Amino acid sequence: MSSRIVRTVADLRVALAPLRGEAIGFVPTMGALHEGHLSLLRAARSENATVVLSIFVNPTQFGEAADLAAYPRTEEADVALAEEAGIDLVFAPSPAEMYPAGFATTVSVGGAITDTLEGAFRGRSHFDGVATVVAKLLLAVQPDRAYFGAKDAQQVVVVRRMVSDLGIPVEIVARPTSRDHDGLARSSRNTRLSADERAVAAVIPRSLRAAQDAFASGIRDPNRLASVVRDELTTERLEPEYVEIVDAGSLEPIAEIGAPALLVLAVRVGQVRLIDNVILGVDDLISTTGSLP
Ligand code: PAJ
Repeated sequence: MSSRIVRTVADLRVALAPLRGEAIGFVPTMGALHEGHLSLLRAARSENATVVLSIFVNPTQFGEAADLAAYPRTEEADVALAEEAGIDLVFAPSPAEMYPAGFATTVSVGGAITDTLEGAFRGRSHFDGVATVVAKLLLAVQPDRAYFGAKDAQQVVVVRRMVSDLGIPVEIVARPTSRDHDGLARSSRNTRLSADERAVAAVIPRSLRAAQDAFASGIRDPNRLASVVRDELTTERLEPEYVEIVDAGSLEPIAEIGAPALLVLAVRVGQVRLIDNVILGVDDLISTTGSLP
């Protein structure tokens, strides 16, 4: 079936009504689709009778106006790629459709999971924006399963909390990080890196690999493991914002790695801010973090 684009919630409801008997899989995105998004679409395709993709560059989750303005918008190419992945329906609303005049509701997930890491550096409003738009999208699509990437690990934790707290009847499926040939996590923002910056960015996955190796050699002290990462990142072209090792569930700092821990980082490369993470403390690293070279 070739995919159709709908732009309003009303049209989306009409299009989905006859398909509701069987499982609906949903992949929310901000477009500029790359292999990471396509891996989510393929997972959704293999597990559901119907697959819905949303493309919406959500203004409320951007802190810097410049970042929002610079965010790539490539709808035509996105729809072609999505069709190749065999999806059924694209929901691509306008900002006015999602936030009509008078819009006054915010879904705000509280506590440590939104205070730290991305919440600390981008401000609380980032996850308020994410939680609000994801809640609206889930209510509009009403999927059986929604697919998210482990690359945005904190986002997965926040969305799971919200879905559980609000009792939204959907299964949140997290999929491994898709990586480029040199290990760099695929991101829509990578297209904004110059050739030089792109080459330097390869240091990021190398730093994560170094920490995995140190962990495998028996180091369990989070400070020492974070130092291993920071030492790798010491090139003047990279500006680390944070390198932290936190509990994979609560995102709270940990004294020693016992249960699965998340090594998360955010690094600025020129004008571009990149995030990445790996799980430490589980056997099958590749299945959760994508394969690092
Ligand atoms: P966006 O950055 O477009 O990402 C859409 C989905 O693709 C997210 O679940 C993200 O984690 C996943 N993704 C991105 N890069 C990936 C990679 N390299 N490997 C695997 N998955 C990857 O995340 C958002 O949009 C927005 O916050 C959204 C949830 C759509 C709400 O606006």
